[in-house]
Amino acid sequence: MIEELKAIVQKEFQQHGADHDWYHIERVYIMSMYLQQHEGGNRDVIACAALLHDISDHKLNGGKLNDNGRVAKIILEQLNCNRDTIEKVVEIVDAVSFKGANVSDEASSIELAIVRDADRLDAMGALGIARAFHFGGSRNRPFFEPDVAPEVHDTFEAYHNSKSHTLNHFHEKLLLLQERLHTKTAQRVGLERHELMQQFVDSFYKEWFFLKDAENTPAN
Ligand code: ADP
Ligand code: NI
Repeated sequence: MIEELKAIVQKEFQQHGADHDWYHIERVYIMSMYLQQHEGGNRDVIACAALLHDISDHKLNGGKLNDNGRVAKIILEQLNCNRDTIEKVVEIVDAVSFKGANVSDEASSIELAIVRDADRLDAMGALGIARAFHFGGSRNRPFFEPDVAPEVHDTFEAYHNSKSHTLNHFHEKLLLLQERLHTKTAQRVGLERHELMQQFVDSFYKEWFFLKDAENTPAN
């Protein structure tokens, strides 16, 4: 059934942009399976949830929030998946997303923790940087605007409606992820990715403000 599900999801993601395309789904699936080997949890539930975790994402479906579960259920029923698995997958795919810096994200099961960690690891590191700038570019946003400071979002709506420049996204989400990974295995994998993003952001500001810094540094 997993192979059939992969084919359905791959077809569904054919026209999606590089921040959320089939390769993202495939990487999250592979990472979820890796985390499962180290952390346990039900393999079928994790595999289905990883493949369906963005099946009706609000950024891609015209703005409908929390719609993944509804679509996941229809697809899994068509594949004659058992009721218990469907119920668990629906719960995971509706809960997986990052919803704002100040919105709590407890994981109610090891399966949710694993799929969420895998999705977050894919938003970190070199891939995370590439995805963030692709996302910003596709919406014609500036890399950075020195006068527009990052915000701490208290609700999913506030996070979802934010349209600020891409550097802010690092402070509003990406650099917060390492602290919010649930499993030990994901924390181990995430460390290098977190440090790379931190280094990237530091260098970005250093280069941007080069002249200002140079003006303030006395010549010797
Ligand atoms: P999740 O995968 O938890 O649902 P999002 O949907 O918020 O997270 O983000 C998916 C991808 O799009 C990530 O790689 C993320 O960094 C990127 N992204 C989301 N919002 C922005 C933004 N405002 N600026 C740049 N990249 C963004
Ligand atoms: Ni995702």
